[in-house]
Amino acid sequence: MTTTAPSPGDNQPSAMFFWPTPDRPMVDRGEGIYLWDRDGKRYIDACSGPQTANIGHGNKRVREAMMEQAEKVSYAFRSHFLNEPAERLAREITAQAPDGLDQVFFGSGGSEAVEACIKLARQYAIATGQATRYKVISRLPSYHGTTLGALSLTGDPAGFSMFAPMMVNHPKIPAPFCRYRPAGQAEDEAALAYANALETEIINQGVETVLAFIMEPIGGAATAALTAPDIYYSRVREVCDQYGVLLIFDEVMSGAGRSGKYLSAEHWDVTPDLVALAKGLASGYVPLGACLTSSHIVGTVDDAGGFMHGHTYSASPIACAVGRAVLAEHLEHDLIGNAARMGTVLKGRLEGLLDEFEFIGEIRGRGLLLGFDIIADRETGRALPPELDAYAHLSQEAYDRGLIIYSRRTLGGARGDNFLVSPPLIVTEDQIDEIMELLVDALRAFAPTARAAINAS
Ligand SMILES: Cc1ncc(COP(=O)(O)O)c(C=O)c1O
Repeated sequence: MTTTAPSPGDNQPSAMFFWPTPDRPMVDRGEGIYLWDRDGKRYIDACSGPQTANIGHGNKRVREAMMEQAEKVSYAFRSHFLNEPAERLAREITAQAPDGLDQVFFGSGGSEAVEACIKLARQYAIATGQATRYKVISRLPSYHGTTLGALSLTGDPAGFSMFAPMMVNHPKIPAPFCRYRPAGQAEDEAALAYANALETEIINQGVETVLAFIMEPIGGAATAALTAPDIYYSRVREVCDQYGVLLIFDEVMSGAGRSGKYLSAEHWDVTPDLVALAKGLASGYVPLGACLTSSHIVGTVDDAGGFMHGHTYSASPIACAVGRAVLAEHLEHDLIGNAARMGTVLKGRLEGLLDEFEFIGEIRGRGLLLGFDIIADRETGRALPPELDAYAHLSQEAYDRGLIIYSRRTLGGARGDNFLVSPPLIVTEDQIDEIMELLVDALRAFAPTARAAINAS
């Protein structure tokens, strides 16, 4: 079977299979927060692709770093050579991260980063005489990637069920949607109940079987930048410590500066045992991901024989040279600070939408990882009918106007339709005005359909 994805201009069917949106135009070029298609139409990349192009498109420093490294050596295998870009990038990342996270393992993307975290966690448990621990608790809904290990943690039964016989069905606890708590319950009370659900699950599963808890500190595709009150994060850390369960933060989307801190963990002063990073790490210029952890964990695994893991492209010199140039851009132009400042501006502007559009549930997130959900009832969070395809409908209205926002639905829409507005960290206030103008226009075009569906439901 073939798709009808546009081929290089000869009107032949594409030879690539599974292009999720085959009717999209062919991209031509990118610069800053903008992309152009081959017909010259301009798009604002208001979600940085899937929250990846953090320093924007067409960056000169990155191009030059890539070229410079390619002229020396693009690739040398880890078993055969050390390489300087990887050594330096590892040190530069750990210098940005909270104390105690001082060791890095490089892979090629988010799913690989998550796999490295859970495999290292498992080897640490074995090395410390706790071989009965293998279960990794995660949240429902959540997104941790699509390789079988990462998918088994992803809280989305639709993605899981087909592959279930091939995977471990790791336990899930509810993600903390505190906005839609029962009437009369305080927000902190709701947050505490969600965090205590972790303790209950650990006990129910059998403490000696639970290896780790993985969560996105700021939600991504599955929950549209969901955060919880502060108390949730400290209680989760406390529960993990109490039961000897490792805490993994999946910062594939929220890390590398997007939230206005290098790691979003810093917003809550909680240090996880392991962190998965990718996306913004190389800002989309090359595939790069990382597992970040402590020398205590690494040393213990090393003493027991070393980390049994690796990929052909782990710590590739050219990918790490790009990673260094991307980080240098962040530091030289204070992009993490800009994410915090512009995030406050953009969040305020998004909050302004709540007055006109009653079908927006809440505005969520930190820094430039911001999102909103579209629902039928703001008090209860009741979803719109799934057949309305609100997530596809609204993002198409935006796309038609040259605005790219990210949308997704999980759990068959039971938690509403999710949208992420997460422009590159170089975004300016004027560009936020441009984004908002087009977004309001798209929402106004979508509103009659949403209102008709709400009235009929
Ligand atoms: C939080 C999170 N974890 C893991 C992944 C998987 O990353 P990748 O698509 O690079 O494998 C993603 C991708 O969106 C993500 O958002």
